[in-house]
Amino acid sequence: MAWGRCSIWRDAGFGDPSTRGIRDNVKVVLFGATGMVGAGVLIECLDDSRVESVLTVGRRPCAVAHPKVRELVRADLFDYGDATDDFLHVDACFFCLGVSSVGMSEAAYHRVTYDLTIAAAQALLGLNPALTFCYVSGEGTDSTEQGRLMWARVKGKAENQLLRMPFKAFMFRPGYIHPLRGVRSRLRVYRAMHAVVTPFYPLLQRLMPKHVTTTANIGRAMIEVAAHGHAKPVLENPDINAVAGAG
Ligand SMILES: NC(=O)c1ccc[n+]([C@@H]2O[C@H](COP(=O)([O-])OP(=O)(O)OC[C@H]3O[C@@H](n4cnc5c(N)ncnc54)[C@H](OP(=O)(O)O)[C@@H]3O)[C@@H](O)[C@H]2O)c1
Repeated sequence: MAWGRCSIWRDAGFGDPSTRGIRDNVKVVLFGATGMVGAGVLIECLDDSRVESVLTVGRRPCAVAHPKVRELVRADLFDYGDATDDFLHVDACFFCLGVSSVGMSEAAYHRVTYDLTIAAAQALLGLNPALTFCYVSGEGTDSTEQGRLMWARVKGKAENQLLRMPFKAFMFRPGYIHPLRGVRSRLRVYRAMHAVVTPFYPLLQRLMPKHVTTTANIGRAMIEVAAHGHAKPVLENPDINAVAGAG
């Protein structure tokens, strides 16, 4: 597939806000588009003229028909040896694939949260050394990898490994995420919670601005970081809202 003209970095010194690079025509690869966060991020990508194309990668189709979107449905999300053509000339990866740790063993959670994520990151990095990698972890992620909470330790380990890799890595740590623009969680308990919160969301935002965000804000913030970079490699919830222009 032809991916159109290449993106342009107008500057080096990406991490320094004073000399940060500007990237336009961003070609995105999006993991997790069938999920709540990924679906919200995809909507923002479709609406933002800075995003030239989106390759969605997952084990089932997200069924979004749009000229910008191409889908890569794969049974194996751990080995991308046969996906070289698909992964070539990508500017940014928005990694929204993830799973709740509830009811999972540490080994099973580690396999999805760490092994799968790092396999995808390595495959993309090998073909795109200038890649920007945006990873959704969560508020409370444990960078020490030593804490009491299993999910936080494993997410911390994934974050730490991504931050060690030689691409521009940004960790997104949202707190409560409110779905907007028709996005729905697949989990009944989340849908019920979102229905209860919807009328009060503006109030929640005023009372707990540091701990709440939306699917739209995460998408806008990822696109902004892919386009302009960010001074901090770890974006906590308030950073996400600020970068999205809603903080
Ligand atoms: N939702 C929140 O309030 C919240 C808050 C903070 C952080 N987060 C984090 O944000 C990320 C996304 O959450 P979400 O709410 O969007 O989750 P979600 O709605 O359950 O979506 C999860 C996505 O990951 C994919 N996935 C899960 N397990 C997989 C596996 N074993 N193999 C391949 N694909 C797999 C799903 O694909 P399928 O459709 O094929 O299952 C789906 O695309 C997670 O890492 C989560 O921890 C979420």
